[in-house]
Amino acid sequence: MKKRIVSGIRPTGKLHLGNFLGALENWKKLQDEDAFFMIADWHALTTEYESHAQIRNYVFEAAIDILASGVSPEECTLFIQSDVKEHAELGLMLSMITPLAWLERNPTYKDQIEELKGKDLHTHGFLGYPVLQAADILLYKAEGVPVGEDQLAHLELTREIARRFNFLYGKLFPEPEALLTPVKKLPGLDGRKMSKSYDNCIYLSDSPEEVRKKIMGMMTDPARKRRYDKGNPDVCPVFYYDKIFNPAVVRQVDAGCRSAELGCVEDKQMLVEALLNFMKPIHDRRKQLENERAKITEILREGARRAGAVAQKTLAEAKEKVGLA
Ligand code: TRP
Repeated sequence: MKKRIVSGIRPTGKLHLGNFLGALENWKKLQDEDAFFMIADWHALTTEYESHAQIRNYVFEAAIDILASGVSPEECTLFIQSDVKEHAELGLMLSMITPLAWLERNPTYKDQIEELKGKDLHTHGFLGYPVLQAADILLYKAEGVPVGEDQLAHLELTREIARRFNFLYGKLFPEPEALLTPVKKLPGLDGRKMSKSYDNCIYLSDSPEEVRKKIMGMMTDPARKRRYDKGNPDVCPVFYYDKIFNPAVVRQVDAGCRSAELGCVEDKQMLVEALLNFMKPIHDRRKQLENERAKITEILREGARRAGAVAQKTLAEAKEKVGLA
């Protein structure tokens, strides 16, 4: 029996390599299950409500990035969240039974308000973010939800909301399980978290030339100022990338950096080749997709149709239990 899998990604800009390793690569692995993947545009609006001029573009870019990553519409169902109205409707229903205290103590809520200081996030929608996410997941009665560690609190809330619904109205929703991404977090070019607000990303849409330029400009061990200074790979972001994208040379680089036999520039040159090799299938697919806009629109429309069929059925069951027509 195939497992029902649901996941989503927020379209708030171009997707980067961190998104690929943290989510899309996992989606790809799980797509031979019964998988539903959404571009969560409602969730994007919770923080980007002032970017209304860009949202549509972000959604389309996300679709291209996801498909270029090798997520295949023949294997899974890919759709835009707001194209399936039931997400908003079940979200509203679940908001009736979600205690405020659960949302106020949600650690991601506090973190995000801290992190996105320039934005006013004291809104109903932003506080309710996890309720909408619970609706995304429960509408499909998901068993597994591939997410990164940062989403564990949201998944726990989903389970609590499911339990509360089942307790109040009778059993309807299974409690989904998190499928944690095995890959480590990819730091940005400067060693901090990869994030567009730090301008330290390698985007899936970067051309090979841009990737080369970015890698060659990367920070290394700050204490290694001259070519013949000995270095410490443990504090070097380039070495971290080597471990992920060029594992065959890790021992050689480790020793060569410490003894100063290997220079940072040579290390970076090797990394560029390995990374471009890693990204080649993404680059190739993207080139083709850029000329297939109508086809992408059709893929998303078909995805919404398939997702909608499941969502309508669950929502009808939920309404019946709650006592709505
Ligand atoms: N909150 C998730 C994130 O920021 C995105 C998301 C929206 C999601 N709906 C979902 C993830 C449903 C899993 C399941 O990464």
